[in-house]
Amino acid sequence: MKAIVYEEYGSAEVLRYTDVDKPAIGDDKVLVRVRAASINYGDRATMHGSPSIMRLAFGLRRPKKAVLGRDIAGTVEAVGAKVTRFRAGDQVFGEMSQRGFAEYVAAPETHLAPKPEGVTFEQAATLPVAGTTALQALRLGEVAPGRTVLVNGASGGVGTFAVQLAKTLGAVVSGVCSPRNADLVRSIGADHVIDYTREDFTRGAGRFDVIVDLAGNHRLSEFRRVLAPKGVYISSSGTGGAVLGPLPRLFAVAAISPFLSQRLRGLYTKRSIDDLTHLAGLIATGKITPVIERTYPLSETADAIRFIEAEHARGKIVLTL
Ligand SMILES: NC(=O)c1ccc[n+]([C@@H]2O[C@H](COP(=O)([O-])OP(=O)(O)OC[C@H]3O[C@@H](n4cnc5c(N)ncnc54)[C@H](OP(=O)(O)O)[C@@H]3O)[C@@H](O)[C@H]2O)c1
Repeated sequence: MKAIVYEEYGSAEVLRYTDVDKPAIGDDKVLVRVRAASINYGDRATMHGSPSIMRLAFGLRRPKKAVLGRDIAGTVEAVGAKVTRFRAGDQVFGEMSQRGFAEYVAAPETHLAPKPEGVTFEQAATLPVAGTTALQALRLGEVAPGRTVLVNGASGGVGTFAVQLAKTLGAVVSGVCSPRNADLVRSIGADHVIDYTREDFTRGAGRFDVIVDLAGNHRLSEFRRVLAPKGVYISSSGTGGAVLGPLPRLFAVAAISPFLSQRLRGLYTKRSIDDLTHLAGLIATGKITPVIERTYPLSETADAIRFIEAEHARGKIVLTL
């Protein structure tokens, strides 16, 4: 089968579209014929091997798992003898532990949710990492009607879900993004859009009940200046230094928060079939719509990643098979 393989860390040039063995499923896995996959910030970080701390998990000198990719949607081709929830022909989606950018994946059934009719494979493939992260961030922030929510990084994969989900919860939403993406963020429901190239919201007069930080581009003290006295700051940012990445921010958040009336939280997204089912239901009923700027065939994954990194892509970029 064809897959996107990388045998060294680096920019998109390290990716090859090539033949690999079709995965075996044994007794307890589901073989899925992948119809769509989506690219996450984490896939790019894994490809670059940066921040370096990631290499402890993914391979010190070179990647341990040669096939990139986490988010997939597709059709069940076969199931192992112990699989109870799925059978051949079912349409499913979910988050893999790598090896997703391929014609077939072998997944534990606990990683997969049924894809409803009315949700396309492309839409379903956008949900596992980005949709779940947005949903769990808003839950951590206890977002409720009338609360003010600022999404720092509102135009990206996670942010476009966070804005829409916060609106479904009745929040008043401010979205921070680049000028290229301001119209998009307004169109998905943000009440206020802040262009980060022209305005530093941390110097404004506004106070937010919840800040979902997907960009990590300000000091904690600056975020706290514009956080309400009992507000919640959520750091979901994978950005940071080249060696430790987000870890210093996540440690700082955990260390300082107990001494404050404001709550500072690090977000560690957990795979959840219930959350995937909930998100797919919101799409099926028209309450949210994944933002997909472009689709690329699997064979052009390297071009898709170049586009994301050069052009400040909007929402999600999806690979189709
Ligand atoms: N904690 C977890 O478990 C978890 C899970 C998933 C993702 N994440 C993290 O969440 C973050 C976002 O992921 P993503 O997939 O949404 O990435 P993405 O699609 O690349 O989006 C990045 C967003 O950041 C914005 N941005 C860039 N520079 C900015 C600045 N100076 N000020 C404000 N916004 C800025 C971008 O806006 P423009 O494009 O308009 O410039 C875009 O909206 C990443 O750091 C990722 O590692 C964490």
